[in-house]
Amino acid sequence: MLYLDNAATTRRKPASVYAAMLKYQLWGGGNAGRGTNKLSVGGVRAVIDAQEAAAELFGVKDECNIAFTQNATYALNMAILGTVNKKDHICVSAMDHNSVLRPAALHGRFSVAAADFTGFVSPLDFRRKITNKTKLVVCTHISNVCGTKQPVEEIARAAHNAGAIFLLDASQSAGAEDIDMDAIGADIIACPGHKGLMGPMGTGLLCIKNPEKLRAVIVGGTGSESESIYQPESMPDKFHSGTLNTPAIAGLRAGIEFILREGAKNIGEYEKLLADKFRDNLLNMGVTVYGKADCGITAFNVDGIESAECAALLGDDIIVRAGYHCAPLAHKALGTDNGGAVRVSFGYFNTRRDVSRITDAVYEITKKI
Ligand SMILES: Cc1ncc(COP(=O)(O)O)c(C=O)c1O
Repeated sequence: MLYLDNAATTRRKPASVYAAMLKYQLWGGGNAGRGTNKLSVGGVRAVIDAQEAAAELFGVKDECNIAFTQNATYALNMAILGTVNKKDHICVSAMDHNSVLRPAALHGRFSVAAADFTGFVSPLDFRRKITNKTKLVVCTHISNVCGTKQPVEEIARAAHNAGAIFLLDASQSAGAEDIDMDAIGADIIACPGHKGLMGPMGTGLLCIKNPEKLRAVIVGGTGSESESIYQPESMPDKFHSGTLNTPAIAGLRAGIEFILREGAKNIGEYEKLLADKFRDNLLNMGVTVYGKADCGITAFNVDGIESAECAALLGDDIIVRAGYHCAPLAHKALGTDNGGAVRVSFGYFNTRRDVSRITDAVYEITKKI
């Protein structure tokens, strides 16, 4: 099987990730923070270890300011709905995923900054659409549809000039780019644990610069301040309601430590190398390719074939993603809103041979039409 859907989730993980999960469940397995027994305390230690690894990766000074979530969608919802009050305005980008667009639409008061046909978001349009009512500005770091990297530092500056908070959706860049929260100017970073960070499914995280400014929208048992009916303000309990997925968090820590050892930038450059080769091959075959391809993602269409049909023709053994990739406005910007596109996303465990295999498979399809 040829797995080329790493933008959805990285299927193969470093061996240390499986080992860490098994070790936690077999030899620990306590409910983190629920009591003072050694298994529960061991759970807290596992969470702190993972916080420390994530803090190092994102340049976060205080590891307490990392909170774990089920995925990027939960992290983004918590960040968006926990920041804005009823009358506040949100500014998002046309390249954002539905996990940003839908919470913004749910809130109701929002504007969308435009992107051009390469999927590049306009900082100028952000500046135009940010008003004195804007409390939150959100932008994806790298498009999950076409791999275009966004000018997020400039967008963060525009947000701060208006006194707004900048939330970075690092779903496609975490683990493939060197990300320093302060250098980018992000007040909050949301990302999944199960994509580039190589953790298991059911993991995501938030880096929160000023946790006192973010309301908890999911509240409940934290194992701390249990005598009170009010949510604790202390971190990370404020955002850790209910039983944590501690075995998966232990796995995520191992994934992040793998990234720290290999270097996120090296990983991203290797994935881009594969994507660049594939893109050249597609262009040589006359296939239409979209976006700037700043990472391991390549979006394309073979003329005369719907993206879903193309993915089906690639067969059961080649795993890609066709359609709209939960980013309807991105497809509008790229001009692919009538049928979507085929997305091939290379990961760190793909090889040059995989590029040849997918190239040959697409070539066979072009010959059929
Ligand atoms: C840019 C972007 N944001 C958010 C998400 C949502 O991630 P999750 O599936 O972990 O909720 C994705 C997933 O593909 C994504 O690509």
